[in-house]
Amino acid sequence: MNILLAGGAGYIGSHTAVELLNAGHDVVIVDDYSNSCPEALKRVEQITGKSFVSYEADIKDKKAVSQIFYQNNIDCVIHFAGLKAVGESVRQPVRYYRNNIDTTLTLLECMQEAGVKNIVFSSSATVYGEDNPMPCVETMKRGCCTNPYGWTKYMMEQILEDAAFADAGLSVILLRYFNPVGAHASGLIGEDPQGIPNNLMPYVSQVAVGKRDCLTVFGGDYATPDGTCRRDFIHVMDLANAHLKAIEYAVQRKGVDIFNIGTGTPYSVLDIIKAFEAAAGVRIKYEIGARRAGDLPECWANADKAARVLGWRAQRDLAAMCRDAWKWQSNNPEGYK
Ligand code: NAD
Ligand code: UD1
Repeated sequence: MNILLAGGAGYIGSHTAVELLNAGHDVVIVDDYSNSCPEALKRVEQITGKSFVSYEADIKDKKAVSQIFYQNNIDCVIHFAGLKAVGESVRQPVRYYRNNIDTTLTLLECMQEAGVKNIVFSSSATVYGEDNPMPCVETMKRGCCTNPYGWTKYMMEQILEDAAFADAGLSVILLRYFNPVGAHASGLIGEDPQGIPNNLMPYVSQVAVGKRDCLTVFGGDYATPDGTCRRDFIHVMDLANAHLKAIEYAVQRKGVDIFNIGTGTPYSVLDIIKAFEAAAGVRIKYEIGARRAGDLPECWANADKAARVLGWRAQRDLAAMCRDAWKWQSNNPEGYK
């Protein structure tokens, strides 16, 4: 298949490109490099030994995106493009709504014009909001999001569902990612956050490599086994493989389907610190600080539906997540720069 990866130069897109190329698919990557760089795509070519077409374009630019559909015979779109920093979305809500929703609308319009009927969307566990019991099941209500980023995911799911309702030929797969971490085992590609990392694993990696002094653990007094929050961390290559299964499924059916993409096992912040110390052979200095606004005490997936319907289950354990994150970080202390 020929698959258009919107936002494909980013963290999850670049790992998915490796998985798709290795499975024999062709990819066309479109990215404006607002949160990534072309070097990531060179590394994808280095890992796979395959070349592919890429375009630097803003996916809100309808003219540019239509041209890309016109020049390439696309079978399926995977929509990764979006802004994703929760705190920034609180400070810049309009920018987040504009970028995340407009990219989705533009892709849908261009797909319609080009007769492309399959789309896989990067959604998030954040759409389950605050009020649901754990583990998350796909049938639970969504909403009660704690920030504009979360609401964009909620709204984009709704837009894609409405589009599929109106066009019986459309196949929409919503993948709700839990907490993607780790890197390709080569250490050539990985997560490259700009500035101070917002997320746990990149912060821990930067403490381990000596770029940051000390991790602040956000809250040690939650009603959890060790007092720190628990999350469902998933290796990014397992997540990449879920996209391969999702496109194969998408082209065989019509309508909307939703899948949780997590391991089904929660680990605490302190578990992550210990596992990373073991993988990297260094001590991670940390202190327990105040809770971070908007954090849920616990969040993890019931991932049975993906196993049942897509034949997908996460294969890599926490040790592999930390080992591969460390290999990327220690080989590339300044990221792609
Ligand atoms: P990322 O920032 O590394 O990748 C997103 C890519 O989209 C970047 O390369 C960026 O340059 C590009 N982009 C953004 N706006 C664009 C636009 N208007 N035109 C063209 N390109 C644009 O993020 P990621 O971690 O790879 O996440 C991919 C998707 O998965 C995002 O939609 C994100 O919200 C979602 N998601 C991520 C996580 C996570 O923890 N990383 C969790 C749940 C969901
Ligand atoms: C966050 C977002 C979520 C988004 C996801 C992926 C919030 C409230 N949620 O999820 O919407 O989909 O990232 O981008 O931001 N932690 C620390 N110290 C740190 C960093 C994190 O203790 O320096 C803790 C957090 O309190 C949390 C856990 O580590 O309990 C995981 O945090 P993080 O990696 O940011 O992911 P989420 O909060 O689960």
